[in-house]
Amino acid sequence: MFRPAPLYFRCGSGSRLEDVDGNSYIDYTLAWGPLILGHAHPAIVEAIRKQVSRGMTYGAQHEFEIAVAERIQSLVPCAELSAFTSSGSEALQLAFRLARAFTGRNLILKFEGHYHGWMDSELISYHPSREQVGDESRPNVVLHSKGQSPSVAADLVVASWNSVDRLRETLERNPGKIAGIVMEPVLCNSGCILPAPGYLQAVRELATQHGAVLILDEVITGFRIGLGGAQQHFGVTPDLATFGKAVAGGPALSVVAGKKEIVGLIAGKGVNFGGTFNGNPISLCAADATLAELSHNGGEALKRANRLGEALRAGIQERAQAKGVPLIACGFGAAFAIHFTGRKQLTCYRDTLDDDGARLQRFLEACVRRGVYSLPDGRFYTSTAHTEADIEQSLAVIDQALEA
Ligand SMILES: Cc1ncc(COP(=O)(O)O)c(C=O)c1O
Repeated sequence: MFRPAPLYFRCGSGSRLEDVDGNSYIDYTLAWGPLILGHAHPAIVEAIRKQVSRGMTYGAQHEFEIAVAERIQSLVPCAELSAFTSSGSEALQLAFRLARAFTGRNLILKFEGHYHGWMDSELISYHPSREQVGDESRPNVVLHSKGQSPSVAADLVVASWNSVDRLRETLERNPGKIAGIVMEPVLCNSGCILPAPGYLQAVRELATQHGAVLILDEVITGFRIGLGGAQQHFGVTPDLATFGKAVAGGPALSVVAGKKEIVGLIAGKGVNFGGTFNGNPISLCAADATLAELSHNGGEALKRANRLGEALRAGIQERAQAKGVPLIACGFGAAFAIHFTGRKQLTCYRDTLDDDGARLQRFLEACVRRGVYSLPDGRFYTSTAHTEADIEQSLAVIDQALEA
């Protein structure tokens, strides 16, 4: 019944992972997001099996690129053109470059607590400490890693998220200088905080007013919150959007999609873009299979994954409340996170600085020992492979973990 924390996994199937000792776990990490159809989905396995025998990579264009670009175009509101990259970090690099080339400006405006990849130019003010953050009206630009080039800080401006006034002030302080405004439309990387009603619409208007390219980083929300991403869910169309993780259901693929006149700058119009593995047919055939599966029946499988996730989220919240445990479980169905906090509501990264991280770790340890595996920051992802039985079993385990 009680099992040690897993160190090594041997295989995955559907919603389950098995470790080298044969213990089974209900998997809510989904490899940090990609496995939207669960582990080893037959449609993806079959697509890859077929493609492998036709050659693993061509270093040239092929039919799956067209097929996947067309699928994305039909599903995602902003996607007039798509460019394929291999990781989310890389997709954001390209989006920043496109925004700078399109506007002829240099600064990228990002928000505190948002994650856009591990590279020097992106890894700014991700999880600054209370001592590092600075004044809320003018947050410090904080490097996140040892070895990061300090010069990148000059290329970014940081604002507090979910406040229209703070964004307006930041834009007004930098007239004609902001090339792009980038954000996670749901703040998944700081505990799945939702945008305030109307906030994304106001950001859209401000970006247009100030001539800045609006980039929605949908690496997590894409093909997860809904078929058309957060932009469709919240009704806000960006100029550019980045996708990754779920788009290929497991293999490495990411995408920059957006307006023709911006993405088209890579087509002989002066924006350099390369990458040996970008657009490789293994990743693209997996994306074609994943998007085909997700598109069946008007996206019913994804809606169900979101319903099951919402049942789990609400179930955790209710159980904590009944036991008098101060906890917020926030986010949307297929991606939510737990915060042990005395706060009633979370609206931005700074609110999470009051979270009881040690208590979260004890809780997650108690869950994993009982066979429920989630991300170390308290995030849970659901897939189309999860079942009602998984949710029931998980809630029974979580009940015990909350007691513990
Ligand atoms: C919102 C967001 N953007 C970008 C990235 C970077 O993607 P990758 O890890 O594929 O480089 C991540 C990764 O977790 C992410 O969550």
